[in-house]
Amino acid sequence: MRHFLTTEDWSRAELQALLDRARAFKAGAKSDALAGKSVALVFFNPSLRTRTSFDVGARQLGGHAVVLDARGGTWPMEFAPGAVMDGDAEEHVAEAARVLSRYVDLIAIRCFPKFQDWAAEREDPLIMAFAKHATVPIINMETIVHPCQELALMLALQAKLGGVKGKTFLLTWVPHPRPLNTAVANSAVLIASKFGMNVRMLIPDEVYKLDPRYMDAATRFAAEEGGSFTVTTDVQAAYSGAHAVYAKSWGALPFYGQWEGEAPLRAKGAGFMIDEAKMALTDNGVVSHCLPMRRNVKIADAVVDSPAFLGIEEAENRLHVQKAIMETLASSGA
Ligand code: CP
Repeated sequence: MRHFLTTEDWSRAELQALLDRARAFKAGAKSDALAGKSVALVFFNPSLRTRTSFDVGARQLGGHAVVLDARGGTWPMEFAPGAVMDGDAEEHVAEAARVLSRYVDLIAIRCFPKFQDWAAEREDPLIMAFAKHATVPIINMETIVHPCQELALMLALQAKLGGVKGKTFLLTWVPHPRPLNTAVANSAVLIASKFGMNVRMLIPDEVYKLDPRYMDAATRFAAEEGGSFTVTTDVQAAYSGAHAVYAKSWGALPFYGQWEGEAPLRAKGAGFMIDEAKMALTDNGVVSHCLPMRRNVKIADAVVDSPAFLGIEEAENRLHVQKAIMETLASSGA
């Protein structure tokens, strides 16, 4: 049985097949791949795009979505093996995953890390527990990576840039009032390197390097696909000649959960907001963000409201790529 937990588990050819199918859906192709089938959408965190696009996508495929708010609409859940459940959790994933599998044909999970212990949370324990115990395919709606967002981004880049191989992709850290999850940053370097782009990561300080798992994967994919992966703190060099700029803010892992010490390092990126002057350094580059996005903190209005901004297109693409994912998993014999 195949899950969609991370694009690391899927070959570039398999991902391209999903993108090709998504492009067909975007052009109007119809499918009843979920006729008579149901999808559980389990949210441990808020959402606008993911919730709406999965629900609408399931219905467009002839299926039915059940949205479960795990922050109050379901029983508090434990996921650790062997846990003595004498705390708040009333239910273990071992039962929840198996029971949901008796009702539905796909289970999609959103569960952000809790900013407590990166050594444990980097193992993505809740969704991995669902994958272990469920008897139907699991889809990642964002945990420590955001693979559906990766495909939506790549679909937008391929439409705008044509072949992306050899093009320069800049992931830039941008300001935000508080430290955020690294998921979208991890995902951005994974997908851009997997598709042979020359990936630059602009950060205010070395402490903003991503977990070695993603740094190493990006380096490996770049070597395999003929691209490159470099890290810089030099704003001018990072933007120079870039074809695509992707904005994301995240907390520095060495300060994970104890953010007080991060403040002076975060301040080094105070000038990292994407603005017209920086975009003028690119090769007529496009710019995007996964959304939600704080205007005039992460990206200036003049850039967001310019034709270079792909964020709305990328958000629409979530619908199409997720239909491709659900169709593929539902027809995989699970
Ligand atoms: N990009 C994204 O996942 O949006 P939501 O958090 O609104 O679902």
